[in-house]
Amino acid sequence: MKVLFAASEAVPFVKTGGLADVIGSLPKELAKLGTDVRVMLPKYEDIPLHYKERMERIAEFQLQMGWRQLYCGVWKLDMNGVIFYFIDNEFYFTRKGCYGYGDDAERFAFYCRAVLDSLQHIDFVPDVLHCHDWQAGMIPVLYRAHFSHQPAYAHIRTVMTVHNLKYQGVFGKEQFQDYFALGEEHFSGYALELHGGASFMKGGLLYSDFITTVSPTYAEEIQTPYYGEFLDGLLRSQQYRLQGIINGLDYDEFDPMTDPHVTTHYRDSLTKKQLNKLKLQERLGLPVRKDIPLIALVTRLVDQKGIALIDRVIAELMELDLQWVVLGTGEPQFERLFRWAADAYPDKLSANLLFDEALARQIYAGSDLFLMPSLFEPCGIGQLIAMRYRSVPIVRETGGLKDTVTPYNEATGEGTGFSFANYNAHDMLHTIRRAVRLYHEPDVWDKLMANMKKKDFSWRKSAQQYAELYGRLAAGV
Ligand code: GLC
Repeated sequence: MKVLFAASEAVPFVKTGGLADVIGSLPKELAKLGTDVRVMLPKYEDIPLHYKERMERIAEFQLQMGWRQLYCGVWKLDMNGVIFYFIDNEFYFTRKGCYGYGDDAERFAFYCRAVLDSLQHIDFVPDVLHCHDWQAGMIPVLYRAHFSHQPAYAHIRTVMTVHNLKYQGVFGKEQFQDYFALGEEHFSGYALELHGGASFMKGGLLYSDFITTVSPTYAEEIQTPYYGEFLDGLLRSQQYRLQGIINGLDYDEFDPMTDPHVTTHYRDSLTKKQLNKLKLQERLGLPVRKDIPLIALVTRLVDQKGIALIDRVIAELMELDLQWVVLGTGEPQFERLFRWAADAYPDKLSANLLFDEALARQIYAGSDLFLMPSLFEPCGIGQLIAMRYRSVPIVRETGGLKDTVTPYNEATGEGTGFSFANYNAHDMLHTIRRAVRLYHEPDVWDKLMANMKKKDFSWRKSAQQYAELYGRLAAGV
């Protein structure tokens, strides 16, 4: 089985969000199952030099976009057995970061066309073309329009995976007409049209052979108006070819036993984990105390992540006998909130408004609790890392959070964390209070640790599900 992933970011090359973790880890696991998976990314400026130096240019050609002939290079790099290709065009990709430019429509139109056009040049024709998020969403559309009738490519099946339905790549219709050479029939409300423009994501959903998203609950949620981002009707009508497959965690990459950033390595020993907590308190200038629970928030500080709930009850939260460590950047009003709280409660909260992978790992290792009160969460990775590092998650029951965190049940002793159902600040507050109370009951805490230990959030099972899906699609069933 030959599979080509088309995605706009991947660890360790470039990362702005959880998508990069998936694209960096799932292919390795699929390779173990005998799938030949390769990945195609844009060749961004920000890719570290030592990777660029190891790349080899394997093709160069001219790509037709509208009336323009554009240069396209393809570079190749073998990363521990997984082949990565990089689409090269200096005008589009030699810039800082991945997205956020006024010409993103054109940049990713170029990328989508380049992925398909490069098939003639790279000596690899996949059985399945697996497209991730809106940046790759026009690939299934272009495939149907321009490639599916060519004998060499007619067998290819396309999969569209939604990592976050909120980002839909909506741009003006004229741009689409210019970049993609598509007939008028592609622009009706039954096709690419969305909010008066046209959407990459909608294209991917409609024209792919199969749709997946990154958790079973999110697959259900996006069929409702609350989570559906105006595409719930479409998704309801396509539910027969929609499946939720939960993301895994790269267990080699995230392992408190070997993590180079973790000061005292551990896996199940709470005593050793405690040493990491003391170190963290010391490093961040919090009172060094073993007996006080420490709660972590490692996240982008944006609406999706439920920061507004914290804002709503910040005073009550600061009254609890609890230490807070915040790490992340985001919207100014949320950064201000934590800057203020750190000022007003220096013994209670440490605000680190930056991103630092090493500190993140020390926080996972040093915290007792890990908060994710998301408004919506397609899958989420923080809670998986937290459980691997034995930090008990407190989550809102949405998307992947609901699918991965089992609420603790005092009657049966089951569960790996704490959760609340409604997007409501006082429900969250109540849940945090309960967690703080149970922290002081060693039997309960031991039970939580033991329950987390039994869970397997590695990629093994999920990769198997993708492999089965590819098999079904290739066999035409
Ligand atoms: C997006 C989602 C997140 C998910 C990730 C990887 O970043 O917001 O929930 O874990 O994609 O699929």
